[in-house]
Order: sequence, then structure tokens, then C-alpha cells
Amino acid sequence: MTYRPVNSISRQKLLDATRQFGTPLWLYDADIIRRQIAGLRQFDVIRYAQKACSNTHILKLMRDEGVAIDAVSLGELERALAADFKPEQIVFTADLIDGPTLAAVIELGIAVNAGSLDMLERVGRAAPGHNVWLRANPGFGQGHSNKTNTGGEHSKHGLWLSDLPAALEIVRRTGLKLVGLHMHIGSGVDYAHLSRVCGAMVDAAKMLDHDIRAVSAGGGLSIPYEETDPEIDANHYFSMWDAARREIEAHLGHAVTLEIEPGRYLVGQAGVMVSEIHAVKQTPSHLFALVDAGFNDLMRPAFYGCHHDISLIRSDGSSAPVDEMVEIAVAGPLCEAGDVFTVDAHGTIRGHTLPRPRVGDLLLFHDVGAYGAAMSSNYNSRPLSPEILTDGGELKLIRRRQTMSDLLALELHTV
Ligand code: LLP
Repeated sequence: MTYRPVNSISRQKLLDATRQFGTPLWLYDADIIRRQIAGLRQFDVIRYAQKACSNTHILKLMRDEGVAIDAVSLGELERALAADFKPEQIVFTADLIDGPTLAAVIELGIAVNAGSLDMLERVGRAAPGHNVWLRANPGFGQGHSNKTNTGGEHSKHGLWLSDLPAALEIVRRTGLKLVGLHMHIGSGVDYAHLSRVCGAMVDAAKMLDHDIRAVSAGGGLSIPYEETDPEIDANHYFSMWDAARREIEAHLGHAVTLEIEPGRYLVGQAGVMVSEIHAVKQTPSHLFALVDAGFNDLMRPAFYGCHHDISLIRSDGSSAPVDEMVEIAVAGPLCEAGDVFTVDAHGTIRGHTLPRPRVGDLLLFHDVGAYGAAMSSNYNSRPLSPEILTDGGELKLIRRRQTMSDLLALELHTV
């Protein structure tokens, strides 16, 4: 496609950003994040799954909007604290807990969402009276890829429903305080699975034989990556969970807080990755446009076969004439054949229809705010790319480009 507008980010702003900060770069739009938060306000608590995009400036934006926070590692706990979240606004979710993380959650009094009996036992023994959630695996899951399906018998996540009595035994024996039940069955959940998971939550709450104050619907709300993808109806999503919550309230005889824990839904559409074409190459099968970003930057296409819309602008900011449209394969600079962005789930190259590319053109990868920069690596010794946030028309550098000195410093003074 030719230039696809990035909502409130003008083409001029985009060019300014590339001139100022170079390519590749990540550019986020604060207005879109706020719009997405607004869509979920009916839930009592919106808890941001920061793994989607954990830059502290994005976390601060969330905090300013009254959003709570999920952390899945000691690093994410530290990020939440660095963004001035209070310990009571943080939940630590995992299936295991190591020594340093256990010490941190106990010292700070951060609630723990436990996905295994061993984790629960460890917290209970070390900190009787600690607030805990139980993350249950309802026995089925769903995901845009097998790799993002977090429910069912092949998933390592959550407590199997039949383990809930054993979990309660640990809770009672060690004096843990049970806050609530949590279910997250995967990313890219459809309404049929949603209705099943709501039913499973009601059943689990009824058979629990213990009081709870809250339930969490997990995350997994999808966003449209392709033109034909439907937009999630947040009202419908809420009404299904609200009905489940009401049934649980009727069973328990008191009010129950309803939480939602999205990552992608809040930030996915807010982000674009800008890259520059440095080479154009024709093989008998494909016309390749080779850009300066690789799967070390944006991993989703190579890892899951995910689609991201790609659009092109000329280096002077103009659109290319649409009568020159061709099928191109877009690939990166890594020394690895799989470093191609236009692939299906089997790694087969699929062309994208774009204006005939020229060296110096910019290629924009859309809807990469979630699991874009957050999944980047230093493969091929490529430094992490900068992140820029636009808010009220202003460009703000929220992470500078990593340098080779940053990387080499880790290897100095070793023995
Ligand atoms: N809560 C829990 C316990 C999770 O494990 C996850 C995602 C979320 C919430 C947020 O899910 P979301 O709303 O963002 O779908 N790297 C993959 C996604 C992996 C998600 C892992 N857990 C991707 O690029 O699509």
C-alpha cells in the first residue's frame, strides 16, 4: 500500500523524526493509547500487561490514566516502580518465582498471581498473609498462533482446575490471603472462546469453596492487523464478563471487582516502525526491498508468521504514483534467510503490493506498538532502535538508540 496515515502523526512529523533520530525507529501515538484505554473504562480495573511495550514513559502514561499494572519478571516490577506505580497497583503474574523476585514481592507487598502449586507454596511459606491470586487454566485455550495459546493441556500456564483444591489447601495452611481468580487463555481470543472462558470462570468460582473479592478476565483482546480483520466490540466483551461477574456475586453474596489485563489492545495500533530501503534486488521469484530493520527489531512476522501492513513513502515525503504498484518481498539486514517480514506462518514468502521501491524510500510497518520493541534483540550485534512518543504534536525521545559501547560495556571487566 502507499502511505497509510498513522492517525494523529502527520507525514511531516514522521520525516522529522527520521531526520532527527535516524532509522529504524519506533514511533508511538499517545492519543491512540488514550483512546484504547477509554474503550475499556467499564471494567473496574484495567491492568496493563506491560510485556507488550514496557518503556517507562508508556507506563507513566498508563499510570496517569488510572491504569493498574501487571509485571511478569523482576525487571518488569522494577519498571513499574520506576514509573511510580505504587506496590498495591502492581500484580506479579508467573508460573514460578525465583529467590530475588520472591524477596522483592515480599518486601514491597506486591500481590502475586500464582500459576503453579510450587510457586504458591513458596510464597505461602516465605510470607504467610501475603495477597495472592490463583491463575487457572480452564482446560482449553485460543491464540493467533500455537505459541500464543496459553490454555489447554499443552500449555505450561496456570493451575489446572483439578489442582484448585490443592491450591486452597496451601492458601489455608500457610495463611495466604486469596484475592481472586484469574484466567488468560491466549492472545487473539474470539467470542465463542470468550463465552466458554466466562462459563469456566463462573464454574471455578462456584466450586472453589473459598471467598474471593475479584476476578480477572486476563488479556488477549485482538486488534485488526489487516483491513478485513474485525474490530473487537469492547461493550460486548464487557457485557459477557459482567454477566459472569454477576453470577459469581450472586453465589458469594457480595460485590466482586472485575479486572481486564490487556497488552496489545492498549498499545498495538499506537505504534509504527520506520525503516529505510538500502537495496532493491530482483531474483527470478521475488523483488526484494532490503530495509535497515530486521527480525532483531520486529520479530512477529519471522516468529509467528504475523501480518503487518507495510506502506511506503518517498524520502522527500511524497507518495509514490499508484500506477507503479508491484509485488515486493520485504527483508532485513540480518545474516539469516528467515529475516523476511512478508511471510506466512510456514515461513513462505508472500509479496505485499507496494509502489515500485527505490533505495532511500521509507517503509512503515504498522500496528507494531505491542510486542514490537518489547521483543527486539541484539542479534547480529545490532543495537536497539530508538523509541519516540508523540503527544500533542510534540516528538519526545523516550529511549535513545543503543550504542555498540553500551553492548561492549557488558563484556568489560569480566574474568
Ligand atoms: N495476561 C497474561 C497472563 C498474559 O500471558 C498475556 C500475554 C497478557 C495478559 C496480554 O495479552 P494480550 O492482551 O497482549 O494479547 N508475543 C505475542 C503475544 C504473547 C502474549 C503473551 N502473554 C505476539 O506478538 O502476539
